Amino acid sequence: MIILASDHAGYLLKEEIKKFFNKENIIAIDVGCYSREQSVDYPDFAKAGNEKVLEDPRNVGIYVCGTGIGMSLAANRNPKIRAALCTDVNFATLARSHNDANVLCLPGRSLSARKAIKIVKAFLITEFEGGRHARRIKKL
Ligand code: RB5
Repeated sequence: MIILASDHAGYLLKEEIKKFFNKENIIAIDVGCYSREQSVDYPDFAKAGNEKVLEDPRNVGIYVCGTGIGMSLAANRNPKIRAALCTDVNFATLARSHNDANVLCLPGRSLSARKAIKIVKAFLITEFEGGRHARRIKKL
């Protein structure tokens, strides 16, 4: 299952990602926020997203705030979360294949929907390579 979360600054990009998922019949759960007008605090939504992501090891999260930085800082406070802020496809691929990231963080204020969707696709289709990367992840 894919878990979506954002603050107000990430809301519009999250809506674009949802439109893409709807078109592709991909099911996702949105834990909020639900408006760009009301200012909210990204740690609250990272926490809500993390709770859902950790319900099943196959789950992944996609969290969006203005820069993606706040969401990644907040998400990574949970030791079972490996959240990666990715601004291009290569980062997303490596975040999965090398870091086994279970949360993708995106900057809503500086990514076009088109580019964000390419990043999302790369994140979702890439598998963790394991091997030496598994050893490193155990040390985190
Ligand atoms: C909200 O204005 C903004 O600070 C937040 O979305 C995020 O960019 C923080 O890292």
